[in-house]
Amino acid sequence: MRELSLYILDIAQNSLAAGACEIKISVVEDTNNDRLTIKIADNGSGMTQTQKRQAADPFYTTRTTRKVGLGIPLLRMAAEQTGGRVEIISKPGKGTTLTAEFVRSHIDCLPLGDVVSTLMVLIRTRPDVDIYYKRVLDSRSYVVDTRKFKEILGDVPLNNPDVSVWVESYLREHEIQLAGH
Ligand SMILES: Nc1ncnc2c1ncn2[C@@H]1O[C@H](COP(=O)(O)OP(=O)(O)OP(=O)(O)O)[C@@H](O)[C@H]1O
Ligand SMILES: [Mg+2]
Repeated sequence: MRELSLYILDIAQNSLAAGACEIKISVVEDTNNDRLTIKIADNGSGMTQTQKRQAADPFYTTRTTRKVGLGIPLLRMAAEQTGGRVEIISKPGKGTTLTAEFVRSHIDCLPLGDVVSTLMVLIRTRPDVDIYYKRVLDSRSYVVDTRKFKEILGDVPLNNPDVSVWVESYLREHEIQLAGH
């Protein structure tokens, strides 16, 4: 994959497959420490120690349509090739938190890419799942919580076409502000 945003989508799909109804995603760029940190936390089924070990092995997967699971091993490779790392904390019945750290200036560090599109795929396909997104670039940051949108919308679903167009432009506006100073 050419963009970290696609890895975020991949890892969030794991959360959905694990039955999560809440996914918290944070993307933190710290230019002073030269780090880009992506964290994806869910309240899905979680993994036992054994499952967690197996998840590090590309030949282990609970998917049934093919025999290798590549999501986590590929992300780990992408992080480690920059001198970063991936850490998974998981409790059965509670959920899973995956943290991926990248060294931003490393020549092999992939661009972050279009995180807004990743969020919109999640929102459009699973409006029932609550998404909390925190974006930090040094001292600037913003937070989007789909629960807040749902409170305002009442009976109108988050994937209503007009609503999702508005949500997307809201996110894009914030990304531009964050990058633009
Ligand atoms: N958030 C999570 N909650 C519970 N189990 C998880 C989670 N993420 C991964 N797993 C477990 O780890 C396994 C490996 O995950 P990985 O993303 O590497 O491969 P996959 O999802 O099986 O296949 P692919 O990502 O290639 O479609 C999964 O099959 C699942 O059993
Ligand atoms: Mg996966």
